[in-house]
Amino acid sequence: MSYTHTFGEASGRNGKKRINTLVMKINAREPEIVKIRIAARTIRKGGTVAFPTETVYGLGADALNEEAVKRIYVAKKRPPDNPMIIHVANKEEVYKLARKVPKAAEKLMDSFWPGPLTLILRRSKVVPDITVAGLDTVAIRMPDNEVALALISESKTSIAAPSANLAGKPSPTTAAHVIEDLAGRIDVILDAGATRIGVESTVIDMTIDPPQILRPGGVPYEELKRVLGKVTLHPTVLTTKIKHLIRVRSPGMKHKHYAPNATVIVVEGNFGAVMKRVQGLADLHMKKGKKVGIMATDESKSEYHADAIKSLGSRKNLTTAAKRLYGLLREFDAEGVDIIISEGLVTKGLGLAIANRLRRASGSNVVKA
Ligand code: TXA
Ligand code: MG
Repeated sequence: MSYTHTFGEASGRNGKKRINTLVMKINAREPEIVKIRIAARTIRKGGTVAFPTETVYGLGADALNEEAVKRIYVAKKRPPDNPMIIHVANKEEVYKLARKVPKAAEKLMDSFWPGPLTLILRRSKVVPDITVAGLDTVAIRMPDNEVALALISESKTSIAAPSANLAGKPSPTTAAHVIEDLAGRIDVILDAGATRIGVESTVIDMTIDPPQILRPGGVPYEELKRVLGKVTLHPTVLTTKIKHLIRVRSPGMKHKHYAPNATVIVVEGNFGAVMKRVQGLADLHMKKGKKVGIMATDESKSEYHADAIKSLGSRKNLTTAAKRLYGLLREFDAEGVDIIISEGLVTKGLGLAIANRLRRASGSNVVKA
């Protein structure tokens, strides 16, 4: 399967540029080596490859090749001040990319890698400026996914990979989402089906003591506290006033993120009150002629009236909610919904990442019920 797409502003001085995107279905558990080699050759030549991880699909390029990394920024229309996570297939690589690896970081690697945890460390000289957007630090993780690990190993380099969506959009949890955003803009897409977790990795800053979570994700805060003792949460994790923060340590924080085309409103609070408020807001906007979607849960979905109602699953099952979140946001967009009103869930475990993404997707449009 092959897609061609024309794009203007991202193509530089030579006018319009087309890329033929090769889409290959690949076995998630035992990836066919022939397909991995085609993708790895693309990485080695400085091209771009979208691949599955356990969290979301990533858009990869050789982390140590400036031109290659530049292609990621262009394809995603990513702001140049937003650094990338470097993906490795073995721990030794960390000591090449970072100039200092604290004991606590080693403890986390032993406990959670491969897995959805990204460590921020002091950067070594081998990492080009463009990969880390000029910062003195570098973000590194080892994904828990056979296709990703095979691709990194076979590429014989480390792979810089942000989520494989257009900048600002919800992250892709299927290859179809990647195709929707990036077909014609990247070289290869490896399609291994839906990702297991559905929200991105936890990003933790290990350059300070105690370490600080910059972005909650697949490895819960509680788990990190159990291993490290003391961990803090960056104030932006659950803030509703991101725009007003003066000093932003994770540069990605200040950009619009995870947002569908529709306006998102999140209603948080006690479940009964939340349901009432969600329906009230839906009625108000439908009266104004808007097409309204409600992101409900199994416990509430049959109680609502709106143009589209979708469920994150049971309120008790955060694993399912995380897995469904981005796909549902994209579905509402596909159905032309103007406003998505979402129930908030608990902020424990994976719930903290879900709450953070919903708040960011809404641009901090959070209503307390
Ligand atoms: O699960 C994930 O982490 C996925 C998969 C593909 O691995 N990747 C991902 O990458 O979510 P991205 O680029 O969409 O988000 C990475 C976040 C951004 O908010 C970025 O600003 C932050 O990590 N980040 C990267 N390098 C950093 C650094 N040196 N210091 C602070 N934050 C950094
Ligand atoms: Mg992203």
